[in-house]
Amino acid sequence: MKGRIAVIAGDGIGPDITQEALAVLNQVAQTFGHEFETAGYLAGGAALDVHNTPLPEETLEGCKSSDAVLLGSLGGPKWDTAPSHLRPEQGLLGLRGGLGLFCNLRPAIMYKQLSGACPLKAEVVGEDLDIMVVRELTGGIYFGARARDEAGAYDTMSYTKAEIERILRKGFEIAGKRSKRLCSVDKANILSSSQLWRDTANALAGEYPDVELSHLYVDNAAMQLVRNPRQFDVIVTENMFGDILSDEASQITGSIGMLPSASLREDSFGMYEPIHGSAPDIAGKDLANPIAMILSVAMMLRHTFGLNEEAVAIEEAIGRVLDEGYRTADIYSPGMTRIGTGEMGRRIADAL
Ligand SMILES: NC(=O)c1ccc[n+]([C@@H]2O[C@H](COP(=O)([O-])OP(=O)(O)OC[C@H]3O[C@@H](n4cnc5c(N)ncnc54)[C@H](O)[C@@H]3O)[C@@H](O)[C@H]2O)c1
Repeated sequence: MKGRIAVIAGDGIGPDITQEALAVLNQVAQTFGHEFETAGYLAGGAALDVHNTPLPEETLEGCKSSDAVLLGSLGGPKWDTAPSHLRPEQGLLGLRGGLGLFCNLRPAIMYKQLSGACPLKAEVVGEDLDIMVVRELTGGIYFGARARDEAGAYDTMSYTKAEIERILRKGFEIAGKRSKRLCSVDKANILSSSQLWRDTANALAGEYPDVELSHLYVDNAAMQLVRNPRQFDVIVTENMFGDILSDEASQITGSIGMLPSASLREDSFGMYEPIHGSAPDIAGKDLANPIAMILSVAMMLRHTFGLNEEAVAIEEAIGRVLDEGYRTADIYSPGMTRIGTGEMGRRIADAL
């Protein structure tokens, strides 16, 4: 198999963890006989410094002409005072919108080796928590009209029926391949866009008779996630609710440094990135956990290239390194062996 991958290492710890992810990808290519051509591009703060824009045209074009994008992380305090259209986050929104990535998959999986890091009681969370949050990514309040003046400010949450339907279909399809339970989260007691969301979900349910659809208001969903997370398998929701709930779900698993994400559209193209940010406090110090980024490579192999065996090999290699007791600082606990970003990456590549 041959593949072309656009690589945006980005800011903060982005370059640290991207280097390790590419080493693991290289190992997969060697072990399984694939050829992955990678090309590096700038976005976020790194692009602002060079091109005075968070998303240069050549980056977007380079991504469009690739099979997949691997993204480290964008942003940092250096660019926090920039005007809103010149903030690194605009690079991320521009990539999502410009590449049409409407479906964000954020798995929250608790590794049995790290169960001690979970902030909830063991009897609440169980041993094998595995929740998939399916988040709409190119609509809603992050993309709606907004304005601010002296007197006030507003943001707009708007959705077309077609936008809602296509993400709900993804939710039904993913639930169909897992436990066949889909929880749709909205705020239909107040918001018009949520009422359309709920009506559309109910109308689609008949087409997926093997999937059991339930609904929760977002405030209740946030509460249920910490009260009884095991009731969830697949959650589907709009952009901002998904942003918040997936961060909450990730914290239940213990470390933000362990969780990948995929942003997809209808074809096999996807952008893959860890759910965490650029962690400027630990950038360049060999302290970052590269596992979320390496798991993002596994998601890429599975969703874009259809290489499930290779994806499983990466996941199992990570499991073996954790079983051997190796931990980066964020997941360290007494009795384990503390290692840095580079050694964690090397050990995972070796375990492959
Ligand atoms: N997708 C993205 O690129 C993305 C997402 C979120 C935040 N950001 C940006 O990142 C910057 C920092 O944001 P933040 O501090 O709110 O969130 P963050 O995720 O960068 O950091 C939160 C905490 O988690 C730690 N952390 C994060 N990733 C880690 C890893 N892999 N290994 C070990 N520890 C890790 C950090 O050291 C920090 O203490 C901001 O500029 C923000 O806008 C970018």
